[in-house]
Amino acid sequence: MLSTKEKVLNFFMKNNTQWISGDSLSKEFDVSRETIWKAINALKKQGHQIESKRSYGYHYLGTEKLSSQLIKHYQNSDLVNDIEVLDEVNSTQIYAKNIVNQSINLNQNKIVFAEKQVNGYGRRGRSFFSPAKTGLYFSLILKNDFKNLNQLGLLMTGISMAVVRALTYFYPEKNFQLKWVNDIYLNNKKIAGILTEAITELESNTSRALVIGVGINLSTIDFPTEIKNKVQSIDQNFNVDRNRLAAKIIDEIDQILTENPKNIFLPEYREKLLLMNRTVLLNVGNQDFTGKVLNVDEDGQLVMKLDNNKIRHFNSGEVTKVHF
Ligand code: BTN
Repeated sequence: MLSTKEKVLNFFMKNNTQWISGDSLSKEFDVSRETIWKAINALKKQGHQIESKRSYGYHYLGTEKLSSQLIKHYQNSDLVNDIEVLDEVNSTQIYAKNIVNQSINLNQNKIVFAEKQVNGYGRRGRSFFSPAKTGLYFSLILKNDFKNLNQLGLLMTGISMAVVRALTYFYPEKNFQLKWVNDIYLNNKKIAGILTEAITELESNTSRALVIGVGINLSTIDFPTEIKNKVQSIDQNFNVDRNRLAAKIIDEIDQILTENPKNIFLPEYREKLLLMNRTVLLNVGNQDFTGKVLNVDEDGQLVMKLDNNKIRHFNSGEVTKVHF
């Protein structure tokens, strides 16, 4: 059952350019004008901008805040129905992993967004700077029956491809590039990072769920000095509609996860690969490999010609240096 507040917001979404009187809304939802007034105030409190004018009524202008209802409204796929938006959290990733660990049966996918993270983290325990308003930070819980964690290569390349597709839709003039496995770059600086963690069941060594954390720097200006020369935001002067972007990312992930064959996106991924034909240093666990990147194979693994001329496929690792 939707609350009056949710009904009013849905109404605004469907008729978003029009003025609507409090009287019509109260008739539409069969509640008092007082209830409508309260619902409008509650929406305003959540960051929705609503103009009110005597004898015209209300006019919905939009919101700069993330809203689960709006994301749902813009979303076309049914990858996730359970969408949660938090104002502030240590890390959506930790929050999402707690949900998985506390649930006995995960019966649906879930996505958690936060306006701001105070302890966002990336791979190798690095911190991920996540200030309010200027970025998009979320963790997607994919319930799954991944018997074979080797399939993760395709999943990780696929998710980053999906994010790039969604970003390209909103920033068509930008040439986003991918650093294997799933960092997203623009003009040789990182603008987004993705972290995939599998929650495994020790007994069966199968994964119960994947928690995929995505952090995108949209318009952040004030990065901490220690990362300033490596990261940037997409466009400091443009405020993309984050609810629409969130919905588009969900739709693009759904598209990639459901298309067949599973690796159909790979030619597009390869085209965006920042590392192609570059000499790189790849760190895997406590080993380093230097060599030339030849390709990304059909399983999403990085193919390198090592210094000793051997060709090797890597399913994990982190490229720590690129020689341009
Ligand atoms: C990386 O660059 O190494 C991955 C960065 C992942 C950051 C995202 S932001 C949302 C989610 N919550 C976190 O704490 N981390 C991920």
